[in-house]
Amino acid sequence: MTSIHTLNRIIADAASAPSAHNTQPWSPRMIGDGAAVELRVARKRTLPASDPTGRDTLLGLGAWLEAFSVSAAVHRVDFDVELLPALADPEAIVHARSDDPVLRIQLHQGRESTGGGTGGGTDDGTGGGAGGGTPNVRTTAADRHDGSTDAPGSRLAPAGAASPASSGGPDPDRHLLASRKTVRSGLEPAKGLVIELASSLPDWLRLVPVDADDLRHFSSLGTADTVREPGVARELAHWLRLHPSHPRYDVDGLNDRVLGVPAVASRFASAFTRNRRLREAAVRVVTPVGELWRRALLEVPVSAAGEDAPAAATAFALVADTKLLDIGSGAEVTRVLNSPLGLPPERVLEAGQALMRLWLLATARGAAFAPASEIIDSSLAQGELRYRLGLSRRDVPLFVTRVGVPRDPNPPRAPRR
Ligand SMILES: Cc1cc2nc3c(=O)[nH]c(=O)nc-3n(C[C@H](O)[C@H](O)[C@H](O)COP(=O)(O)O)c2cc1C
Repeated sequence: MTSIHTLNRIIADAASAPSAHNTQPWSPRMIGDGAAVELRVARKRTLPASDPTGRDTLLGLGAWLEAFSVSAAVHRVDFDVELLPALADPEAIVHARSDDPVLRIQLHQGRESTGGGTGGGTDDGTGGGAGGGTPNVRTTAADRHDGSTDAPGSRLAPAGAASPASSGGPDPDRHLLASRKTVRSGLEPAKGLVIELASSLPDWLRLVPVDADDLRHFSSLGTADTVREPGVARELAHWLRLHPSHPRYDVDGLNDRVLGVPAVASRFASAFTRNRRLREAAVRVVTPVGELWRRALLEVPVSAAGEDAPAAATAFALVADTKLLDIGSGAEVTRVLNSPLGLPPERVLEAGQALMRLWLLATARGAAFAPASEIIDSSLAQGELRYRLGLSRRDVPLFVTRVGVPRDPNPPRAPRR
């Protein structure tokens, strides 16, 4: 049986996963002295106003599962994942009001390394080398190219078979987890990277390049459109920690260092995030400003779909193509496409796993992501993005980010609880 010590290390590594606003929406619980791990959505760690479909929560949980998988491979721990019905329950995913686990990770008995990991070998010979498999785990549904579906309640093989760009066994994989980077500005182009990242995806996910000027415009529109919703502005203020005196500065959320807010500004603004009355006052100011800004941005014309050279791309959208997924036929397809997510939730979880692999692959190439989810969160900005990228009704954009080599080689890291 996997030792509690090893499992604790794997769970600690999994917590390095990215999450919207650094909410860290995962709550893993060990079952039966390390026989299994159940994953729940942590209470008060979702964003019902900013993420009403649960897309970002599911992506974050998928990223957590992928990080778990990478670390488990380093420790030579095998496992299976069972998706549970709560994965499709908005009470659990959007509102975090359910105590039901969303997935169960069943650990296999057997060989386990003592930690760090020295070799990249596998029992089944899939190898841990470049472009190969993470050692000692089997193919994940995210890696299957046949579009088959694992509905919640069904068994899913573990993630991590498509190893993130490691080139020398498991230790580098663990290092990648620790050195994955998110920045908000200061990226230099990384030529050819988007093409390389795209090649690591399953068929039903693709990367569509986004022009840098378009991205700026969509991002402004998305920000203006979303912050004019008081609930969204309130949620953002709740997760900002703009001064070290904030009690959760080193725990979670977005602090002044990771956001690159100058000291003077953060000192002034921090009171508005901590004091409820000041926060409400700020929300009352921000929301009408957002409305005016949005109206001005809507006057900017957007040109129809054009070809952006993927080799020179500095930003991309991660898009799911529902035509390549087996989501039933007739009324069933319409039901899924009309659902808030536009995809079965287990597919968004898989996309989160794939997103984490992209992020780690970028890390291995010295690159960082600067996400811009406001473009997807705002139906207006998403509409303009869809028009510009020529996406069809059956394409579902899930994540938008700039990508490149950070000018600061060691950008500040967001805290973990
Ligand atoms: C689904 C998802 C959406 C995100 N959206 C944004 C975003 O819109 N803007 C942003 O600056 N960061 C975004 N991030 C990055 C998170 O803020 C970041 O992962 C978190 O603060 C933890 O920091 P780390 O990635 O450095 O560990 C997103 C991350 C995820 C997983």
